[in-house]
Amino acid sequence: MLELRGVVKRYGGFEAVRGLDLEVERGQIFGFLGPNGAGKTTTIRMVAGVLQPTAGRITVGGDDLASAPELAKSRIGYIPDRPYLYEKLTGAEFLRFVAGLWGKNGDGTEERAGRFLELFHLSEWKDELIESYSHGMRQKLLITSALIHQPELVVVDEPMVGLDPRSARVLKDLLRAFVDGGGTVFLSTHTLEVAEAVCDRIAIIQSGTIIAQGTMAELRRDARAGAEAGHAGLEDIFLKVTGGEEMVDVVRSLQGALSQ
Ligand SMILES: Nc1ncnc2c1ncn2[C@@H]1O[C@H](COP(=O)(O)OP(=O)(O)O)[C@@H](O)[C@H]1O
Ligand SMILES: [Mg+2]
Repeated sequence: MLELRGVVKRYGGFEAVRGLDLEVERGQIFGFLGPNGAGKTTTIRMVAGVLQPTAGRITVGGDDLASAPELAKSRIGYIPDRPYLYEKLTGAEFLRFVAGLWGKNGDGTEERAGRFLELFHLSEWKDELIESYSHGMRQKLLITSALIHQPELVVVDEPMVGLDPRSARVLKDLLRAFVDGGGTVFLSTHTLEVAEAVCDRIAIIQSGTIIAQGTMAELRRDARAGAEAGHAGLEDIFLKVTGGEEMVDVVRSLQGALSQ
């Protein structure tokens, strides 16, 4: 569904993304996990087509994002980390506007919007101006707007940030239902819990490079080293692959000292 080949992004002299190769199969939730500054947002924005790679190639459903942008982008629903919404529109107007951009304005779209608003408990506020919405409400409206044109691939940057636990659960269930129905999700997160709870496959990125990739089981197996066999949670793996193993040792010895 999504393929990246040798994707590079340079900001001036700084290389934020360093030759990424990545494949996301249809029907899975693929997690892009890494610490702050690793290059997740940069990659997500290139996949969403809002930022141009310095080098490399991105295809969506087989179509090249650079040479067939309209076709490739029509398959994508993008949920950015920093929502940009038109404050002077109501929630309902905003959804109608976004649907219109995709050439979708029928009853089916209205019905779809209604269902999402209901799901996120936003129906009551759909005719209020967006400027009066809380951060969580904006996030939920944004999620709805990204799904309104029935995309095949949903690209989400830090999906759980700013959502209350109930909405985070709704989003998780929604993404799962979306992939069960044949959709594909590519999401970024700096949180291990999110990756572990939501993703079928994970790639760990650090300093613009993928340093590990696989299912949780595969990552665990890879990370299992000697005496630690069987005890590797994703946190251990994550700390290890991102160069924080000293921290794990420090914490362990502290725990050891405290329990004596
Ligand atoms: N517009 C920009 N200009 C220069 N440097 C940037 C820009 N955007 C991001 N960066 C840098 O690129 C690196 C990757 O950033 P980003 O993709 O936002 O990482 P992440 O989302 O994983 O936290 C960081 O070092 C960041 O400071
Ligand atoms: Mg980011």
